[in-house]
Amino acid sequence: MRQSVPHLAFVVISLWAAGAAGQTPAPALDFDTFRTRVQPIFTARRDGLQTCLTCHGGKVGTRLRLEPLPEGATTWSVEASRKNFESARGLVKPGAPMESRLLTHPLDRAAGGDSFHGGGKHWATQTDTEWQTLAAWVRGPQAAMSARTPAIPAGRAVRIIQTNAAGDGAHLIDPATNLVTQVLTGVDIPHGVTSSPDGARLYLTNEVRHTLDVVDMPSLAVRARIPLSGRPNNVAITNDGRKVYVGIAQAPGALDVIDTQALKNVKTVPVKGSIHNVYVTPDGRWAVAGSIPEKTISIVDTATDTLTRTIPLSAGIRPMAFTTKAGGATDRIIVQLSDFHGFVTVDFDSGKETARVEHPAIEGEHPHRDGLQGAPAHGLAVSPDGTRLWSTSKVYGYAYIHSLPDLKEVGRVFVGQHPEWLTFTPDGRFIYVAAAGDDMVFVVDAATMKEVARVPVGRVPKRNATAVLRVP
Ligand code: HEC
Repeated sequence: MRQSVPHLAFVVISLWAAGAAGQTPAPALDFDTFRTRVQPIFTARRDGLQTCLTCHGGKVGTRLRLEPLPEGATTWSVEASRKNFESARGLVKPGAPMESRLLTHPLDRAAGGDSFHGGGKHWATQTDTEWQTLAAWVRGPQAAMSARTPAIPAGRAVRIIQTNAAGDGAHLIDPATNLVTQVLTGVDIPHGVTSSPDGARLYLTNEVRHTLDVVDMPSLAVRARIPLSGRPNNVAITNDGRKVYVGIAQAPGALDVIDTQALKNVKTVPVKGSIHNVYVTPDGRWAVAGSIPEKTISIVDTATDTLTRTIPLSAGIRPMAFTTKAGGATDRIIVQLSDFHGFVTVDFDSGKETARVEHPAIEGEHPHRDGLQGAPAHGLAVSPDGTRLWSTSKVYGYAYIHSLPDLKEVGRVFVGQHPEWLTFTPDGRFIYVAAAGDDMVFVVDAATMKEVARVPVGRVPKRNATAVLRVP
């Protein structure tokens, strides 16, 4: 912690200086991120290439000067790191990765790099994990975020939890830096994820073992695997955190109710058909479960865990989202349907479909029809302030953004191949989109609707969630 004092002083002074000049302050370069995340890149071996340190440790006379490493050491002391930091700083432009020589010089020309680097091209694409780590450091913290984020208790921090549907766990992303901070393993083919309100646990459905896996934070230890009544799909938690609902996709389908104190599967609620996604409405009153084969939404009372009514629609029920009335009660269910490139809205009280919005083709973009699994549009989210609806298209790799309540398209943005799911930061400023075809999470500024980062994650990322978790 010795280094934190001068570091903070640097941040304050640079922000103050920029503010005094009447401009938007350039993001501060973070020394700790440099020391712990960037420096390992300088000592890493890449295929057929020397390490950065081998050449920039003194042998070549360039502006990138790295301190020599003492015999046997794998990383630099804080003091030596500070000298490396000073040298690297001169080769980057804070906030602008693509105008930073440290990032463009060793980057392949085809990927936007410059023409030649005497040490060879070390990164073939901008999606390279190392390149993205450098880019995250150069972009700096997403500063405006903290101001609008609701108060966060000590020892906890906002994380984006990104499951890897072809893998065995999830990546946790810090939205302040867009770096992966922890990687969960040991949950095979995770389908859905949610977290306890106190941030001490993750709950993931395990499609291989047919269990709900309970993971402790911040250790990421799997504390329990609770047997389910069949193969699960998605999962939802009550607002008080006492019950988790698991959608059972295996026929005949059901909603399993998990008591989170006893860590037991206490009830299997019969619903209409096998269940794909399940949600708890924002007011906590209802568990809402959708069936693809039965084309029906089942509404379960969370007080009694009984099925109260069903809403049949024209096609299979895919992702859903909710809008609320002034008092917090559910107003509309927004639904993506099988084989429909768009969404419909359903009045919650009457159960009647009230609007149908089809996403238009995007000129100049090639439509993808392969591997859609009957869901051309998959991924829905309502902004925390309730004014925007984001819907993702696997056909075009775009998010279509609509105003609420009037459902006018206000913009669209490319979010990668086969986007599957999306989640807002608590302040609504950024949205994280799982690009299943790119093994990447696209980060978009919600107000400008522009991409700000790509975070490499595991294989075939699908469901994701935002949580305020206990962190190491
Ligand atoms: C085989 C030796 C070698 C390796 C390995 C090497 N470089 Fe270089 N690097 C050079 C040489 C020689 C130059 C000067 C010529 C040029 O600009 O390309 C240079 C120049 C640079 C510059 C421009 C510095 C300036 O003065 O403008 C940057 C930035 C840079 N390298 C970054 C890196 C990074 C980052 C790595 C590791 C990913 C790396 N280099 C690996 C040899 C190397």
